[in-house]
Amino acid sequence: MPISHLPRVTLAHAPTPLEVMSNLSTMLDGPNLYVKRDDCTGLAMGGNKTRQLEYYFGEALQQSADTVIITGAVQSNFVRQAAAAARKLGMDCEIQLEHRVAIKGLDYETSGNVLLDRLLGAKIHTYTDGDDEAGADAALEEIADNVAIRGGKPYVIHLSPGHPPLGALGYVDAAFELLDQAAERGITIDAVVLGSGSAATHAGFLSGVRYRKDPLKVVGVCVRRGADHQASRVFKHCQDVEKLANFLSTVTEEDVIVLDDYLGVGYGHSTPEMMEAIALAGRTEGLLLDPVYTGKVLAGLIGLVRDGTFVAGENVVFLHTGGTPALFGYRSLFDDM
Ligand SMILES: Cc1ncc(COP(=O)(O)O)c(C=O)c1O
Repeated sequence: MPISHLPRVTLAHAPTPLEVMSNLSTMLDGPNLYVKRDDCTGLAMGGNKTRQLEYYFGEALQQSADTVIITGAVQSNFVRQAAAAARKLGMDCEIQLEHRVAIKGLDYETSGNVLLDRLLGAKIHTYTDGDDEAGADAALEEIADNVAIRGGKPYVIHLSPGHPPLGALGYVDAAFELLDQAAERGITIDAVVLGSGSAATHAGFLSGVRYRKDPLKVVGVCVRRGADHQASRVFKHCQDVEKLANFLSTVTEEDVIVLDDYLGVGYGHSTPEMMEAIALAGRTEGLLLDPVYTGKVLAGLIGLVRDGTFVAGENVVFLHTGGTPALFGYRSLFDDM
């Protein structure tokens, strides 16, 4: 493993399963579809952030931190998994919930991930200045200062670019894991479709597959911002990942594929394609998705099958990154289903 020089704690149940989606493949009459079940990483209902937290908590423990501080949307899966990781490792967690979207109501504000954050005993702060990544990150420093004043040792997990994307290394590991699974089964993967938000998953995964010299396409479906901004963010993160991992630089700008046709109005806003993807996944494969991330990502994959980008004979993997607890926060979206 090339990343053994960095501290890491094991948090994820891995390898996660690679399953065939035969009913959905038949229904769409296109490529062979698979799902990589990173919703099953095991920590407090799982998700992609568990692999990313292995490196953040490795560094936090190395620094003898006793309190982890993190920010995310009200229904953030990242903060929920961070709170669980902190508890498992005997630490405290202070989370900042950002009112990024103008959604109100009991479900959104108290159910889903928020309920789980409370059960995990995280100390909850709120950030009310809307969708402002840099501002939200800056506010974490104030929380950290207060922890230090009380005699604690804080460790801050930042979301905005400009901080080393340590968590992306968890998706270098995931890329190796998936390529090994494909090799064991004797299949060649032609494309992986995944969510591109902070870009840690996308950049880590892409850097991992190119390090292994695999030419498969990594298609990032935008869930937070438009394609132009996202593409440069992913590429910059790939360069940072390659530095962190001591890889020779191999990812090119042409390798970065981002698709913003399925984002809709923006982060956390529903789209008809997302609603259809959630219904199809449940009703053909017994698979639960979420409305903010994986619903939009599967919608993107379905769109690429329907427009002929992915064709019969190819093997295409949907990376299921979790997020299902948010279904309860967004319950009223599904009143007509
Ligand atoms: C369920 C889920 N999928 C995908 C993503 C996007 O991952 P990343 O932030 O690494 O781009 C997130 C981010 O919070 C998530 O919670």
